[in-house]
Amino acid sequence: MTAHLHDNFDWNAVGDKLTNTVTLVVGGARGTGKTTADNLLQLGARVAISDLNKERVDAVAEEFKHYGDRFLGVAGDATRPDDAERVAAQTVEKFGALHNVVYSAGAYRAQRPTLEIASEEWDLIIDSNLKGAFISYQATIPHIAKSGGGALVSISSLAGRTSSPFLGCHYSAAKAGILGLTRHIAKEFGPQNIRANSICPGGIIGVRMNDLLTDLHREADLVELAKQTPLGRNVYEQDVVGATLFLLSDLSRFITGATLDVNGGILTL
Ligand SMILES: NC(=O)c1ccc[n+]([C@@H]2O[C@H](COP(=O)([O-])OP(=O)(O)OC[C@H]3O[C@@H](n4cnc5c(N)ncnc54)[C@H](O)[C@@H]3O)[C@@H](O)[C@H]2O)c1
Repeated sequence: MTAHLHDNFDWNAVGDKLTNTVTLVVGGARGTGKTTADNLLQLGARVAISDLNKERVDAVAEEFKHYGDRFLGVAGDATRPDDAERVAAQTVEKFGALHNVVYSAGAYRAQRPTLEIASEEWDLIIDSNLKGAFISYQATIPHIAKSGGGALVSISSLAGRTSSPFLGCHYSAAKAGILGLTRHIAKEFGPQNIRANSICPGGIIGVRMNDLLTDLHREADLVELAKQTPLGRNVYEQDVVGATLFLLSDLSRFITGATLDVNGGILTL
């Protein structure tokens, strides 16, 4: 069978498109969000990060100084519409466009029994992990549409597919909710050339997991989890970055509303 021209990738164009886009990483001052921003910057893209924690934003700005004018760091609470709109406006003002958003923000608390979770803690986890994505997408989608379209990547979790051995019911609820939000956005904004997909990582080796397991006195559990994982190890930040770059790039140009598991096979659905 002869291949049609439109079936072939123009590999330069795929790379160029990722490099020439502007991406906002919400919750980008630490962990996977920061590593995602760093990788996009290494590829030559223009990247803004926003984060609730101003000290972390300032520290990243210092660390990313060598990227010069291609980087912007803004402090802001993703759950507040005024902050989210300011972050989006500052990004567009600096870079002249906005194409992609990676929502990697969220608070967490070590697991405790459901009956002992205070409603304030429920609100904190749901707001930062779910409402913040809704508010951030509301603030950025009009800019993305004006820029000709782009891609949204929501970082959910294995906890949103099942439940977590380390985090509570609110976290699983928020992460399951983000899958629904992202699917809805995919349908509603597909006609404006905006794709929206979610990633569900298993426990990622990094600062958050370290603090969490120390709090729970369950450091050995990570070794156990690695043993139970078909690919034989825990998740690295770079595994999530790879999936994110795929979903931001034209390699996934016809994928929207999807949920991509990055868990080494520990859960297969
Ligand atoms: N670490 C893991 O094992 C793991 C596993 C699966 C999914 N995830 C998810 O991946 C994402 C990144 O995880 P991580 O470990 O890199 O997280 P992290 O805790 O290292 O970083 C999250 C960042 O989000 C920021 N943040 C929190 N609330 C915010 C708000 N309201 N507005 C703006 N910023 C806010 C924090 O200040 C922090 O810098 C999170 O959504 C997390 O739930 C993490």
